[in-house]
Amino acid sequence: MDYLEIIGGNTLSGSVTISGAKNAALPIIAATILSDKAVTLTNLPNVVDIRTLLKLLTMLGGEVEHTDTVAHINNAHINSTKAVYEIVSQMRASILVLGPLLARFGECEVSLPGGCAIGQRPIDLHLKALEAMGAHIEIKGGYVRAEAPKGLHGAKIVFDKITVTGTENIVMAAALAHGTTTIINAAKEPEVVQLCEMIRDAGVKIEGIGSSELCIEGTSGKALAFKTVEIIPDRIEAGTYLCAGAITNSSITLKKVDHKHIRATIDKLEHMGCTFDLTDDTITIHPASTLLPVNLITIEYPGFPTDMQAQFMAVASIAKGESVIEERLFENRFMHVSELNRLGADIWLKGSVSAVKGVDKLYGADVMATDLRASSALVLAALVAEGITKVRRIYHLDRGYENLEGKLSALGAKISRKKESK
Ligand code: EPZ
Repeated sequence: MDYLEIIGGNTLSGSVTISGAKNAALPIIAATILSDKAVTLTNLPNVVDIRTLLKLLTMLGGEVEHTDTVAHINNAHINSTKAVYEIVSQMRASILVLGPLLARFGECEVSLPGGCAIGQRPIDLHLKALEAMGAHIEIKGGYVRAEAPKGLHGAKIVFDKITVTGTENIVMAAALAHGTTTIINAAKEPEVVQLCEMIRDAGVKIEGIGSSELCIEGTSGKALAFKTVEIIPDRIEAGTYLCAGAITNSSITLKKVDHKHIRATIDKLEHMGCTFDLTDDTITIHPASTLLPVNLITIEYPGFPTDMQAQFMAVASIAKGESVIEERLFENRFMHVSELNRLGADIWLKGSVSAVKGVDKLYGADVMATDLRASSALVLAALVAEGITKVRRIYHLDRGYENLEGKLSALGAKISRKKESK
């Protein structure tokens, strides 16, 4: 297995181009199942999760031509509606094919995604909503078997909890349903907005895009024809590089980024003493003269994102003072704490709240990635830790960060990908 070797201490400089958003591209790739025509997606991030979902499409009979950042997809000849465990177990977001397969073909079998390092990740809200739209759902042998032989019908869906992929699954299902679906307590993330815009641009009437109440008028089973979609910039990758600037006391510029998508992240870095220059599609961060502690509570968009919690914990580990970080979305999203403490951080946990006492220095060590965002937090800490840090199990990173070591090296970091000696 590969690992990253990082020699800490360098400041960074220059600019980095942000890739397309993984969490926008995944539902958009799933949504192409709603069409029987060719569609082109551009600005895809070149990461493992994208390749995994495109592979699932081909396993279902879809035709996919994929270079690094562009995919030409045609799902006119899908001949299977079974999303098998081998794929879904690699990436739980594969559950996003449930809504579109059921809406287009009236039946499907999708492996239960199972949990992951950060939590149990249930899909009860997805299933309850599809049942309200007329689906018959059965869970057997680790698979969700869903049927709606007469098609789905519109319904009023009230989500007990805000769920990003739950909202996305129901938006896609509602697009081909008979009648109107109203979703109350919908997720408002930019990735949900882009999915809604893609479906609206295919002629489906959707009201309330970007709000917590969506109203979708289905086509009664008529397949859609999509225009080319350019994936929005990845706000979490962008936030991660802003944290790289903050933790290494560096001024760097992010290109192809939408600062309106990461206002909470920018706001918290301003609280820590950083300053920013913003243009339509760039962000330049200037480091704090003294990095101040911060208090964070993770919450749904537009609040502070849970996907930035681990990265901020790394930055807070060398701030002057004590930070308090509360994780409200996932029950186990503190796997990075023990690894950061191996680098010399002083972090303690009590339930869903962590206290991060800033230390003067971190020291290089061997650490292990456990999940996508925790891995990036370890890389950030390693950039300032004295000496050599080896971050292992970086397959987690490769799922969601395009060429992280290449982009960081170009900014001046001493980072390289190595192979475990046999
Ligand atoms: C999406 O996951 C993202 N993944 C996650 O990013 C992100 O952390 C999460 O939203 C929160 O923003 C993708 O978009 C592919 P949820 P999702 O459903 O949709 C509970 C990353 O790092 N819940 O919004 O799976 C759930 O347990 C990943 O890129 C139910 O109880 O998250 C959680 O507590 C990690 N029942 C809360 O809702 C359900 O049926 C939010 O989960 C669904 C969710």
